[in-house]
Amino acid sequence: MPAPNPAALDFLLTRRSRPAKTLTTPAPTRDELEPLLRAAARSPDHGKLEPWRFIVIEQGAMGRLADLAEARGKALGKSETDIVKGRSQFDQGILAVAVIEVQKASDKVPAIEQTYSAGAVCLALLNAALASGWGANWLTGWASHDRGFCEDGLGLAENERIAGLIHIATETVAAPERPRPDLAAITEWVEQ
Ligand SMILES: Cc1cc2nc3c(=O)[nH]c(=O)nc-3n(C[C@H](O)[C@H](O)[C@H](O)COP(=O)(O)O)c2cc1C
Repeated sequence: MPAPNPAALDFLLTRRSRPAKTLTTPAPTRDELEPLLRAAARSPDHGKLEPWRFIVIEQGAMGRLADLAEARGKALGKSETDIVKGRSQFDQGILAVAVIEVQKASDKVPAIEQTYSAGAVCLALLNAALASGWGANWLTGWASHDRGFCEDGLGLAENERIAGLIHIATETVAAPERPRPDLAAITEWVEQ
């Protein structure tokens, strides 16, 4: 039997993200980030395919990615609002971990399960960061789904895509709670 861990359960019952735009310096150092990445890599993974990897985007790289988001937005004919939004998470970014889904060829594990596993890695990293006292937020946005941005900005291969950009830095304001699901409405009990 696993030993009960009430503190861990209490964390899971009260955890909430800190909006990326409210985060400030400092961000975790490489040494501080390492256990968070290690925790995230300890995620369920059918067939031990490791269908994910990390790209740590440090502050020095944010300006280049903001400029690329703007260029891609213009090339794609995006609205000014979308272009500004596409830039802003990089303009304001301090440190973000791009969790990259890496689809592996497998007779046994369907592609969708590899996608689920990459999502699990995103949540595990977010939770590890929050549990360590960092402010953290899982973002995507149109640029993260744009092949041109992914290939030119982060060097992704054809079988790779961004599952999430997990921003991790220091909280400035207490994040407001948001409405949580009505458990009864989303839960069905099957008795027979
Ligand atoms: C896959 C995924 C992508 C998201 N992308 C964005 C985004 O681009 N912009 C945004 O404001 N929120 C985005 N969110 C929502 C934020 O992560 C939001 O802060 C989060 O839902 C708060 O939930 P929590 O407090 O339970 O952690 C995304 C969430 C998920 C799961």
